Amino acid sequence: MQQHIFITRRIPEPGIRALEGKGYNVTVSGKDGVLTKEELIVALKGKSYDAVLCLLTDKIDDAVFEAAGAQCKIFANYAVGFDNINLDAAKQRGMTVTNTPGVLTNTVAEHTFALILAAAHRIAEADAYTRAGNYKGWAPMLLLGSDVSGKTLGVVGLGRIGSRVAHHAAKGFGMKVLYYDPKPNAEFEKEYGARYVDLPTLLKESDFISIHVPLLPATKYLIGTNEFAMMKKTAYLVNTSRGPIVDEQALVRALKEGMIKGAALDVYENEPSLAPGLADLPNAVLTPHIASATEETRGKMAELAALNIIEALEGRVPPNKL
Ligand code: GLV
Ligand code: GLV
Repeated sequence: MQQHIFITRRIPEPGIRALEGKGYNVTVSGKDGVLTKEELIVALKGKSYDAVLCLLTDKIDDAVFEAAGAQCKIFANYAVGFDNINLDAAKQRGMTVTNTPGVLTNTVAEHTFALILAAAHRIAEADAYTRAGNYKGWAPMLLLGSDVSGKTLGVVGLGRIGSRVAHHAAKGFGMKVLYYDPKPNAEFEKEYGARYVDLPTLLKESDFISIHVPLLPATKYLIGTNEFAMMKKTAYLVNTSRGPIVDEQALVRALKEGMIKGAALDVYENEPSLAPGLADLPNAVLTPHIASATEETRGKMAELAALNIIEALEGRVPPNKL
């Protein structure tokens, strides 16, 4: 019997080809945008899809699982993060949920480093300045930034991505590495000369603080006013994980009041909205949740999401089952 797959929004071709190569009937949502919860429910209800490939912008809860129906075996998220999916509800219904770890680690770490360098060297600000015709000649004190080499990087969350960022920092820029995580990693410490510290120590001693934890009840607002108060006035905060880990209004105040020197963000508390005042701050570098967005990596994420579906529909345990 032919199996039917629903994809909530157009993704790169390699994923679709992999599913069609198995002879599955693939339906991609025709809407050029995020489906609202109601639209998603309407799209799924009574359609008897065997699998759904969903995105981090889809809020997947019990009502969505119910609409998908009991024959639906898997929701494959096209993202490493899965805070958009209610895993408890999935478990209760026996629904398999998967994500796409590993394939995006290098790309997100590169983007994180691009943000670190952009913030320190004032790249976005300098680009805007130059385009606006303000460059009237070389000057000794024009747009002075901060060095990255030899400084201290504080990695909050030593998963795959945090470790890779630390690698670039230590091996490429001779940075000292501090890290905060639920558990220490002796091998990592040896490789990178890194030091395991508690969060307050990391905040007090780091020149660049980069966040790499998943969004959980325990990590929501991990960084707020109290934490900014502990940071150096010369520190930069970088976030490529999930927006709600940082209290964004508190960040705007910290940047305005000079509690820290700068920030670089790829994610926001209420995407796609920005906290009032954030976009007016010259000491913030802002990218629109594109840390994994290279041609290569988005293709691999699509293939991995498809592979998870294929494994589930062929009766095996998918490689990235949560
Ligand atoms: C992107 O934010 C992802 O989780 O893959
Ligand atoms: C996510 O892939 C992480 O482990 O950092």
